[in-house]
Amino acid sequence: MAINSIDTDIIRALTNHNQYVSGEKLGNRLHLSRNTVWKHICKLRSAGYIIEASPRKGYRLVSSPNIISSESLAASLQTNIIGTEIIVVDSAESTNDLLKQLAKNNINEGLVVTAKYQTQGKGRRGRTWCSNPGGLYFSVLLRPKLPLTEVAKITLLAGITVVEILRSMYGLPAVLKWPNDVLVNGKKICGILVELSADSESVHHVIVGVGINCNQSSDSWPPALCHIATSLATETNNTIDRKQLLEQILAHLEHYYLRFREDKNFLLKLARQYTSLLGKTVQVITNNETYIATAIDISENGALIVQKQDGCRFSLWAADVSIC
Ligand code: BTN
Repeated sequence: MAINSIDTDIIRALTNHNQYVSGEKLGNRLHLSRNTVWKHICKLRSAGYIIEASPRKGYRLVSSPNIISSESLAASLQTNIIGTEIIVVDSAESTNDLLKQLAKNNINEGLVVTAKYQTQGKGRRGRTWCSNPGGLYFSVLLRPKLPLTEVAKITLLAGITVVEILRSMYGLPAVLKWPNDVLVNGKKICGILVELSADSESVHHVIVGVGINCNQSSDSWPPALCHIATSLATETNNTIDRKQLLEQILAHLEHYYLRFREDKNFLLKLARQYTSLLGKTVQVITNNETYIATAIDISENGALIVQKQDGCRFSLWAADVSIC
């Protein structure tokens, strides 16, 4: 039985209160009889929601099913832009590509596409992103009013968001590896791929693609990744509730995105605070050359500033940088 908008409203009301709400109160708010409320509660229970019922106190939401569905996300997500519309698919070649297609139709910013797994997950610099079931793969459509020179900040915005959520939800020592990786204990746990449509003047839309290794076990990585990748389950010894993680990330991303629209520079302090590279000797690989330098700073526009031994400084927008 599909969850409908009344079910969603009931879940929202119970989530908002976080305690018992009487059947009468729910009924009044949603213009339903108490009997109809009860029928919807039964339906939600069979969809996996644990809802306590007490004859005198009413209903209390104990837990939601650990399944990512657009209905369950719509019911629990309290955002105004990001995730107000969510498309959940079992599989996609790439959620970034799927969203890119949809974005052509003048869709509002905030649309999120998520897939259980991707068959052609994309990483930066033409690489593939290992996208087996168990991970969290999603893309968010944004339409920021930004000059092209500021777009790098969107990658930082997403990276800072993920770092903070991994720290607060799981207590993990997550750090940002400029520009788009999140590492835990030196291994990659999340990658971010920002793609944009723009002309010489301004940005039309930005697609923020995020892949987080959640429930993959340490023996599930292809040989090339087993020493450099890790997952939340490996780091915490727990199974990860992917829906809860997605909700927290989308809510936090919106919080920072709204702030970013007012003040494009607020995130630089955070980026400097969370970046693992600053002050370190790094190997830089660009399209043209490979060299050793020291990572000095993150510039106002979100570039990494490195200094070679001869004192020459470079601003990097796209490169592979790793600590030597
Ligand atoms: C990288 O580390 O190189 C970036 C990886 C980005 C992976 C995510 S998963 C969701 C979205 N869809 C894709 O095809 N890629 C991004």
